[in-house]
Amino acid sequence: MKDKLIEGLIKAEEKRQREGLELIPSENYVSQDVLAAMGSVFTNKYSEGFPGKRYYGGQENTDQVEQLAIDRAKKLFGSDHANVQPHAGAPANIASYAAWADPGDTILGMDLSHGGHLTHGHPVTLAAKIWRFVRYGMKDVETGEIDYEQLREVALKEKPKIILAGFSAYPRELDYAKMAAIGKEVNAVMMADMAHIAGLIAGGVLANPFDHGFHVILTTTHKTLRGPRGGMILSKGKVGNPLKAPEKTIENLPTLIDRTVFPGFQGGPLMNMIAAKAVAFGEAQQPEFREYAKQIVKNAKKLADELMKRGFKLITNGTDNHLILADVHTSFGIDGKIVEETLDKIGLTLNKNAIPDDPLPPFRPSGIRLGTPAMTTRGLKEEHMGLIADWMLQAIQARGDDKKLNTLNNEVKEFCQAFPLPT
Ligand SMILES: Cc1ncc(COP(=O)(O)O)c(C=O)c1O
Repeated sequence: MKDKLIEGLIKAEEKRQREGLELIPSENYVSQDVLAAMGSVFTNKYSEGFPGKRYYGGQENTDQVEQLAIDRAKKLFGSDHANVQPHAGAPANIASYAAWADPGDTILGMDLSHGGHLTHGHPVTLAAKIWRFVRYGMKDVETGEIDYEQLREVALKEKPKIILAGFSAYPRELDYAKMAAIGKEVNAVMMADMAHIAGLIAGGVLANPFDHGFHVILTTTHKTLRGPRGGMILSKGKVGNPLKAPEKTIENLPTLIDRTVFPGFQGGPLMNMIAAKAVAFGEAQQPEFREYAKQIVKNAKKLADELMKRGFKLITNGTDNHLILADVHTSFGIDGKIVEETLDKIGLTLNKNAIPDDPLPPFRPSGIRLGTPAMTTRGLKEEHMGLIADWMLQAIQARGDDKKLNTLNNEVKEFCQAFPLPT
């Protein structure tokens, strides 16, 4: 690389990733093939439109690449349609909402403090300025059960256009069938934001919302799905010509979504990223990916047990997916920011996170959020989870003691040598 400054930073980042353990549940390590596709000459090409229906010439390769990504995505998730063009998760969310809900319409989503994501209508977002968001939440944070009765009451009262399932900090499974039955009563479109768990659904370890009456799945393609950073919208219904406006019916959602992504919201698709999505979806179709998905959940359950044994209070007292939310304020009398910074010093990366009805402020919340997708890619198994929990506890106990933290950091580095990044 001619730009030595950037080359140096890329190398430093590669070293950081190699010598530490990534515990942030929304991160992962992609394969070399995914990296190669992202860095390919497809980045040079403008391809506004859709395969076979473009506004520029020279599309003989891009059309094939996008069609492959679409076909593989449809097969992975059992959908009638896939739009693989959203640049990231947040644009996929906006486009999905806009495909069905008019400005001012109501969307019913998960309480943000109970695990819902910023893009589900946090007051600081553009989405919250366009649509009116109302909320459902957990009935009991000790079990994580969603309050489906309250969800139904709000749905009957508010008549939302969309009911949104999905989260970025909730460690349990949702009852999609129960939610879809409520949606049917109020004629709402059912959308599942599966950004965090798409890989677990594709790998067959968690339920697929399409099997339980949902109309749309929106997702990121990074995280558990282990593709490039990007978004995607899958839908059930009739696939029409995206160049012609269809009647606004649930059946026509695939075409309504296509038209909202382009020309409604975005310009040219990122063809290099779409090529990388196609590669990742191909990888996710392999039997090894199913094993990978299973191992993510096995590791998360084991890590949750090991943490609880060491005095960590976990929200919902465990996990059914890839992520764990721990209340370190109750457990150790400190806030999540202190834990995040302390663990950074020993090479364990995770993030501070608010817990349900958090008594502490957002920048110094009571919790931490961690997960197993990235470490599972490196080959860690259940037998290693005790060691990670040990390091976490020791670091918390030794916080402020830089000598001890340095010793722990060396242990982490040495351990990491046995678990290389994907080659
Ligand atoms: C549930 C959920 N939806 C949407 C997003 C937004 O994705 P992106 O960061 O790619 O815009 C995230 C990202 O964390 C997420 O967890």
